[in-house]
Amino acid sequence: MKEILLNDGRKLPIVGFGTYKAKEQDGVDAVATAIKNGYTLIDTASIYGNEEAVGKGIKKSGIDREELFITTKLWRECLSYEETKIELEKSLERLAVDYIDLYLIHWPANAKNYDNWQQANADSWRAMEELQAEGKIKSIGVSNFFQEHLEALLKTAKVTPSVNQIEFHPGYWQQELTEYCQKQNIVIEAWSPLGKAVVFDNEVLTSIATKHNKSVAQVCLRWVIQHNVIAIPKSTTPKRIIENLEIFDFELTEDEMSSIDALPKMGFSGEMPNSWPDRVK
Ligand SMILES: NC(=O)c1ccc[n+]([C@@H]2O[C@H](COP(=O)([O-])OP(=O)(O)OC[C@H]3O[C@@H](n4cnc5c(N)ncnc54)[C@H](OP(=O)(O)O)[C@@H]3O)[C@@H](O)[C@H]2O)c1
Repeated sequence: MKEILLNDGRKLPIVGFGTYKAKEQDGVDAVATAIKNGYTLIDTASIYGNEEAVGKGIKKSGIDREELFITTKLWRECLSYEETKIELEKSLERLAVDYIDLYLIHWPANAKNYDNWQQANADSWRAMEELQAEGKIKSIGVSNFFQEHLEALLKTAKVTPSVNQIEFHPGYWQQELTEYCQKQNIVIEAWSPLGKAVVFDNEVLTSIATKHNKSVAQVCLRWVIQHNVIAIPKSTTPKRIIENLEIFDFELTEDEMSSIDALPKMGFSGEMPNSWPDRVK
């Protein structure tokens, strides 16, 4: 599979496996099925409550730990130097591994939930830099950081985030933020790359899918990776888990890419990193 080079010299596959809402036995089976069918990048988070299930799915797959790229995330209510170190240990224990490949600050601290949001993000980041130097984390990154959060973090960071995992799908792809990050050599990872399945009836997408004899889900994922962005689709349905990897035998034309780029806003989660917990339309 095509890989993307991170700014720390490590590489990640361009398609990974999302696990939000894949819990308990469903989560175990989905992760094992995904790995057996070729996924090596697995995305979880402490807040998903499924790190144990993900760990069991990895064991069940029988794959060597070194073959995998395990991502997990530090929840936004735990942003301090001390809590970051404690939370990382808890994630290692729940996943039953002794290092994490990619550890992300899940959401930035913002002015609504921290008196000094810049300091809260910077303190967690300093802890993550130390954990990386100790070898407990291979790569460190962020998620849902707007440019303002990144600029503030970069004032004190010794290590530039390798990844920013953001909402990115047809109908909501944060073009300016993506361009800013790519210029800074920060790789974008797309969460909800299928727009949580709500974009599937769109006529532009269905007609492109028909033309290529592919599903709309495959068109969404192909569009994501042709932007040089990592896609992490989630499914607990074996047929779809496999289908979501079958995207390397076709290519979208420039016109098709542009027409998907230009789709009106749809499928947006409403979650804004700088105003959480409020949602917007
Ligand atoms: N950093 C963050 O703040 C953040 C936020 C949200 C998500 N994420 C990560 O990103 C991952 C993906 O996002 P997501 O789970 O929100 O949404 P998604 O991957 O865009 O969509 C998942 C939905 O699409 C369905 N689906 C999957 N493949 C399909 C296919 N080929 N055909 C038809 N339907 C299909 C799934 O159903 P079935 O499972 O029933 O098959 C599920 O309902 C998450 O699992 C999580 O790891 C991160």
